[in-house]
Amino acid sequence: MSGSHPAADCRPVVVLGVSGGIAAYKACELLRRFTESGHDVTVIPTQAALRFVGAATWEALSGKAVSESVFADVASVRHVTVGQRAEIVVVAPATADLLAKAAHGLADDMLTTTLLTARCPVVFAPAMHTEMWEHPATQANVETLRGRGVLVIPPADGRLTGADTGPGRLPEPAHIFAYCREVLRRGATRADDLAGRRVVVSAGGTRERLDPVRFLGNSSSGKQGYALAAAARARGAEVTVVAANVALPEPAGVTVVPVTSTGQLADAVFDAARDADAVVMAAAPADFRPASASSSKIKKRADRTAPTLELVETPDVLAALVQRRGEASEPILVGFAAETGDTEGSVLDHARAKLSRKGCDLLVVNDVSGGAVFGEDDNQAIILAVEGTETAVPRGSKTDLAHAVWDQVVARWHPSAAKTAEPPRTSG
Ligand code: CTP
Repeated sequence: MSGSHPAADCRPVVVLGVSGGIAAYKACELLRRFTESGHDVTVIPTQAALRFVGAATWEALSGKAVSESVFADVASVRHVTVGQRAEIVVVAPATADLLAKAAHGLADDMLTTTLLTARCPVVFAPAMHTEMWEHPATQANVETLRGRGVLVIPPADGRLTGADTGPGRLPEPAHIFAYCREVLRRGATRADDLAGRRVVVSAGGTRERLDPVRFLGNSSSGKQGYALAAAARARGAEVTVVAANVALPEPAGVTVVPVTSTGQLADAVFDAARDADAVVMAAAPADFRPASASSSKIKKRADRTAPTLELVETPDVLAALVQRRGEASEPILVGFAAETGDTEGSVLDHARAKLSRKGCDLLVVNDVSGGAVFGEDDNQAIILAVEGTETAVPRGSKTDLAHAVWDQVVARWHPSAAKTAEPPRTSG
């Protein structure tokens, strides 16, 4: 029996299983994303999948012959070797029938035999009608698969094949791709060290209404918050993102609660945090709001004098979470701080003072002296812990920083994990 064997040309070896649902056409885009980013992809459609998208399409896009039959090219024992060589097997879409077969170990075609021979991470992206997804039989099959370490991306909520809507849509190919990249990056069959945990992430920047057309806001894009949410989901957590004015595609498999103002963000975070294991405040909430919002547009004055704004403080969400937690050690609370050095002290001086003022467990500090990180794809930071440790995370993707933050959170739950935590990487 063999484990995963990288291809001789070093490209990550991916098996893309496609089962017979209308969403099979979306797997073409997923395939493109894998091949265009340098993966060696073998597509295994089921017979039913070939009724939706033909072999010619899969062959043209993957550059390889495809076969759903275990009786093709018998001499090379493909029904065993393809699974053995794989570094990841992703099935998208996974139908209710395919989930049932996989859960029970049936092996009557090329895809199901491959699933039994693979020893690498296996990811299922189910897609079906809501009733089929919610049926106890399907849910039991999903639980069985998850219990074996298989990663199942919950289907998205939205328009289905007919006029109906609900959970059952295949998540966007971009999201499945990002999820698989994370699983490959972490290189572990059980990339789910947050499984069974409920986490809350706030993202974006809040806006405080001044009049019907104006607001006080900030430049936070929400990229770091969404990267934290996607990373937590990829590691198996149940994730709620409280998203303040974020104009990015929603990460797959997470619950997104859209909000506008700091008051709304506070309510949504307090609500979601009630039974959470960790809360990461990556959002940039406005600290002040106009004392009153004008119901009509504020006009220029005839005498050309500018109006004076009276501002009042908004709730400090993180500080309130600390107070609500009292003496308990959970949820673990993580703050973010963009700091600059000044005559009063260095970036780290300000950050240490903020950590003790806020009372959270971890503070992720960005030095923004040399320019903003807002909207950029990269980030670098120092993670301060309440005990005084400081972990430098070198410049890398926001996903890298997200994983470094979750590594620290996991280490607080399981102190021994701190010694084995992967060092953060600088590219994603
Ligand atoms: N934060 C919050 N509620 C606010 C403001 C900030 O929960 N009203 C959180 C942010 O999400 C972040 C942390 O507190 O995780 C630090 O944010 P920052 O703006 O740096 O803190 P402030 O207390 O507003 O300090 P400063 O005076 O430096 O702006």
